[in-house]
Amino acid sequence: MGNRNRTNRFTGLMIMACAGLAAPALADEFTQEDLQRWQQEYRTVVDRGEKLFHGGLPSRNTVSCDQCHPNAANTHPETYPKFQQQLGRVAALRDMINWCIRNPLESEPLAADDPRMNALEAYITQERRGVALAPGKH
Ligand code: HEC
Repeated sequence: MGNRNRTNRFTGLMIMACAGLAAPALADEFTQEDLQRWQQEYRTVVDRGEKLFHGGLPSRNTVSCDQCHPNAANTHPETYPKFQQQLGRVAALRDMINWCIRNPLESEPLAADDPRMNALEAYITQERRGVALAPGKH
């Protein structure tokens, strides 16, 4: 009897301790305004990517992505990473974006952390939202 009471009290204390530990994490939760701001920032980056894709990238031969991929058609972001014959290795989406910048556009590739690369990836992925991930697929 006495033992069980002690066990119950211990369990109770454990629950309270865990709830206490969870409290600081809850304090990190976000508000509706945060969500709105994040969504706006995301939209801004996607829109920037859309402009770059439709003629906004500096291109030596004035070729633009949408000439071959209207609205990011056939860019298949959901299949990355995957082996790409053109590169002879497993490539990320950005590696193929740079392959097209180098080859069809005859221009300088973008650094992986270039905000323009971020924007192109965001636009291309947004255009394929809802499609199931299929990394490695051909
Ligand atoms: C002259 C036509 C042409 C232009 C312009 C072009 N591409 Fe491509 N793109 C291709 C071809 C051809 C492939 C290779 C198809 C393959 O093997 O998957 C390709 C492949 C890709 C892929 C990978 C597709 C996949 O299914 O794995 C991406 C991503 C891509 N291009 C993005 C871009 C972006 C971004 C631009 C503009 C910077 C661009 N392309 C401009 C022709 C073009």
